[in-house]
Amino acid sequence: MLQTLTHVSLRPRNTFGMEAFAEYYSELNREEELRSLKDNPAYGAGLFVLGGGSNILLTGDVPHWVLHNKIGGIDLLQEDDEYVWLWAGAGAVWHSFVLYCVERGYAGVENLSLIPGTVGAAPIQNIGAYGVEAKDVIEEVRFFDLEQQTFRNFTQADCRFGYRDSIFKGTLKGRAVITSVVFRLNKIPRFHTSYGNIRQELDVMGVTELSIKHISDAVIRIRSAKLPDPEKIGNAGSFFKNPEVPNARYEQLKAQYPTIPGFPLEGDHTKIPAGWMIEQCGWKGYREDDYGVHKDQALVLVNYGNAKGADIATLSVKIMDSVKHRFGIQLEREVQII
Ligand code: EPU
Repeated sequence: MLQTLTHVSLRPRNTFGMEAFAEYYSELNREEELRSLKDNPAYGAGLFVLGGGSNILLTGDVPHWVLHNKIGGIDLLQEDDEYVWLWAGAGAVWHSFVLYCVERGYAGVENLSLIPGTVGAAPIQNIGAYGVEAKDVIEEVRFFDLEQQTFRNFTQADCRFGYRDSIFKGTLKGRAVITSVVFRLNKIPRFHTSYGNIRQELDVMGVTELSIKHISDAVIRIRSAKLPDPEKIGNAGSFFKNPEVPNARYEQLKAQYPTIPGFPLEGDHTKIPAGWMIEQCGWKGYREDDYGVHKDQALVLVNYGNAKGADIATLSVKIMDSVKHRFGIQLEREVQII
């Protein structure tokens, strides 16, 4: 039976650094432990699965059984001339997994360097950065289905990935405990350098012969310069998603705001950077007591020390209201408010 503690502080376990207590708390180290969850007296409080705590905003104590996924490890399952298949435990730290791949020349996740969180959280919101998404390399996701009380293996297609979205945020929300992920990486790299200022950064670095290590280093440099380090300033990365609007709507906005950036998507939609709109509304660098909007990236809300989750949640509503008022666009949160 899993060892269960009561009244455990979650402050060191969420990147926003919010103080909140879990009614019950256990670390999950082996997937077999999931089979006997129901026998534990804490089960009645309802389960809350915690990974790296990098995409949540805690607004109060969690009156549930917090299951901290610590199933670690990386294994090479199979390889051929082109690909290598890696198994990784859901509790493995995402960036350590990326470095493991980069060091061995396994290509596909280098653009996703330095994203906080765990391997098991990657498929839930299909993490993405600099033109690459986790779905591009995910082959299979294994999880324990709390409703069926069985383990299930989902293929990439079964996961129904979308922009910062998957079935684990939809119909399987609260029902699936992801235990491991199988990735297919390339031995022959295909470089993605066209997004944002990766090229520019590679030039600054003086790179002439490209490698995945160089791309990883460039992404680490860009992220470190732009995004606050959660070890120093509490945050959960982008607080909102970038909205996708019909092209016609984008053209209207462009006529009104000629500098509005837009990234054409497949089909007839354009993605508009929410950070730009939030900045236009005057929020960039805003600070009240111990919380605010990051000075270099308006998409990131921050906790300077002892902010309350509820204050940040209220701030997010004010930001959404002002973007709606000015641009007629309803922003959606990326971060899950608990
Ligand atoms: N911008 C502004 N002001 C700001 C922020 C951004 O004008 O305060 C403009 C930039 O000038 C640029 C555009 O918005 O033209 C895009 O900015 P950036 O490249 O920084 O990316 P983003 O759209 O703000 C997204 C992801 C990030 C990811 C980066 C890089 C979402 C919600 N966020 O941010 O992901 O690292 O692209 O690929 O899609 C995360 O999800 O937590 C995250 C950090």
